[in-house]
Amino acid sequence: MTGSTAAARELKAGGSLKGRVRVPGDKSISHRALLFGAIAEGETTIEGLLPAEDPISTAACLRAMGADISPIAEGELIRVTGVGLDGLQEPDTVLDCGNSGTTMRLMLGLLAGRNGRHFVLTGDASLRRRPMQRVGQPLAMLGAEVRGRGDGNYAPLAVQGRRLRGAVVGTPVASAQVKSALLLAALTAEGSSTVIEPAHSRDHSERMLKAFGADLTVGGEMGRHITVQPGARLKGQHVVVPGDISSAAFWLVAGALIPGADLTVENVGLNPTRTGVLDVLEQMGAKIDVLNRRDVAGEPVGDLRVTCGPLQPFRFGEEIMPRLVDEVPILTVAACFCDGESHISGAAELRVKETDRLAVMARQLKAMGADIDEHPDGLVIRGGRSLRGTALDSETDHRVAMSLAVASLLASGDSTLAQSEAAAVSYPTFWDDLARLRS
Ligand code: S3P
Repeated sequence: MTGSTAAARELKAGGSLKGRVRVPGDKSISHRALLFGAIAEGETTIEGLLPAEDPISTAACLRAMGADISPIAEGELIRVTGVGLDGLQEPDTVLDCGNSGTTMRLMLGLLAGRNGRHFVLTGDASLRRRPMQRVGQPLAMLGAEVRGRGDGNYAPLAVQGRRLRGAVVGTPVASAQVKSALLLAALTAEGSSTVIEPAHSRDHSERMLKAFGADLTVGGEMGRHITVQPGARLKGQHVVVPGDISSAAFWLVAGALIPGADLTVENVGLNPTRTGVLDVLEQMGAKIDVLNRRDVAGEPVGDLRVTCGPLQPFRFGEEIMPRLVDEVPILTVAACFCDGESHISGAAELRVKETDRLAVMARQLKAMGADIDEHPDGLVIRGGRSLRGTALDSETDHRVAMSLAVASLLASGDSTLAQSEAAAVSYPTFWDDLARLRS
């Protein structure tokens, strides 16, 4: 997102939240369904795809290289006509990844092996500041050629497609984006590749690539070793995208904190690599019931009912971080409203998200009167004092915008939120859902 001139949104304090809400499709799974559909043979149909700015960026890049993707709109079944594993064409202009780190990082892996073709990728001001060497460097072990500013670390990036070789590659960070880029590159390398992660990150790519027919095996301790044998052709599939637990998290925290709240979030993806937020909320004593547990197209799904009750402070660190990395901003809000000291550590990755989320959350919540110490890799939050409504700013970050919205409901006095439209990156109907659940 770039800076905006839209008027700040008014956020009224008080009131409660009641009812049922269906959060939009999972962002990570939506990107993958589009990408894998584009390089499969035949048609992929996608139900529940997130109709938001980030997946729209992925679709636009893929269209520019010859994949046919039907218009993305809420409630629409999306059709992707794949071009096959090596069918993506050289685009005649720059590929714009918008605000989306997942688009850019997965695209680097996808394009690195398109021998003889050249690609340039860029994005908005936030994305052009995010580190990309963490993908380019391990990809280079397969023979990839990625160049860019800061010794290949920052977009605009140029990819000169090359014939790749298989390799055993350890990733520098537990990042599903880095892992997925390598898996995509490995699909057309000469020889098998094994990707080894320092800790197990979200495994949507592994699940979905297997479903599309890739020859992929997961082994090693905690599934940290993933081996791809190239050569298997991907076949178009029907993908059902569950609701995004990272979007559900805003309602879970709001429902647990706001007096009288009773919310049911329907159809939430409960992949165990994503449910760290539920573990922390449970540790805090939140009342959350998982109803109607089921499996949908290879991903566990359930409905989550949350009611308000007293919460304890929490403490979590590096070991759980890959399972809740996107939920740290809203958990920081939760910590402000329970008595005692909460500790977040091992969270330095938050500093290279859409914004420096540790700094931005500390800055914005302190403006409301929160007592927060910022550390290089985390936050200490002394909760229990009341927060006051004030002039807030999402600083262009979707998860910050929605986290601050929840904080503003619990403040004494109304707030305003500048750049609230950032929410559309992952949850375009957030403000409508909020208005409906309050009435
Ligand atoms: C994502 C992985 C995570 C997450 C991001 C989406 C993905 O990033 O923060 O929102 O879809 O693979 P990292 O892989 O950098 O941890």
